[in-house]
Amino acid sequence: MARVAIVTGGTRGIGEAISLALKDMGMTVAANYAGNEEKARAFTDRTGIAAYKWDVGDYDACQEGCAKVAADLGPVDVVVNNAGVTRDGTILKMSREMWEDVIRINLGGCFNMAKAVFPGMRERKWGRIVNIGSINGQAGQYGQVNYAAAKSGIHGFTKALAQEGARAGVTVNAIAPGYIDTDMVAAVPADVLEKIVAKIPVGRLGQASEIARGVAFLCSEEGGFVTGSTLSINGGQHMY
Ligand code: CAA
Repeated sequence: MARVAIVTGGTRGIGEAISLALKDMGMTVAANYAGNEEKARAFTDRTGIAAYKWDVGDYDACQEGCAKVAADLGPVDVVVNNAGVTRDGTILKMSREMWEDVIRINLGGCFNMAKAVFPGMRERKWGRIVNIGSINGQAGQYGQVNYAAAKSGIHGFTKALAQEGARAGVTVNAIAPGYIDTDMVAAVPADVLEKIVAKIPVGRLGQASEIARGVAFLCSEEGGFVTGSTLSINGGQHMY
């Protein structure tokens, strides 16, 4: 039986590349999305991958969404918590809503999804959870106290849940992407982005497929001894 995988935010950007990479590994993939139905339909037409709409920041919606995927495709073996948003601004200009949205969606989404799938993975003694963190959760970033806090939280969440899953065959890992050529990064003002790219030793933005490759490894059968780790894929921008 093919493994069943859910990729949150899986119809665009890094998530789309991850959905495709897991499909190429022979998995049955469900790509979750929160927003644009038209774009999601185009994604399904393009890739043959089913798209499911729910908000990962909503606990009940995650329970319902994951149950629906399991009913349609089978028990969920793999979850990639990729969905995330930015609400950038210096703390002087950051509203409480900008803070709460990012914590609820980026960090809360990981908890909500794990609550929905972790019990079944434990019972079946096999699971892979990959959480997409960020270089900005490791190093901080001017204008992103909300995003850096949520992504940093994801790295702690990963190490804690990895300890709970280890004996039951459930690995939990994180990837910390650097600046990747996606709509999210394209939204950074051009002059600011230029300065950021100048500090990337590899000398360019990353490609979504370069993140997906790492996710595919962590989700593979052979990845079973890797747990609680963070794989940085950032062109050398942050080394430690
Ligand atoms: N360090 C120190 N000072 C900085 C700075 C930095 N990194 N960046 C800007 N400043 C300074 C500016 O020089 C400026 O100083 P002066 O007033 O003396 O000229 C001051 O801070 C104000 O800066 P801005 O004009 O940029 O302020 P703003 O309010 O217009 O915009 C901002 C602030 C929205 C945060 C904008 O700087 C910005 O968008 N920065 C990019 C944030 C970023 O990298 N986001 C990543 C999004 S992609 C992502 O998150 C994916 C991932 O995981 C990597």
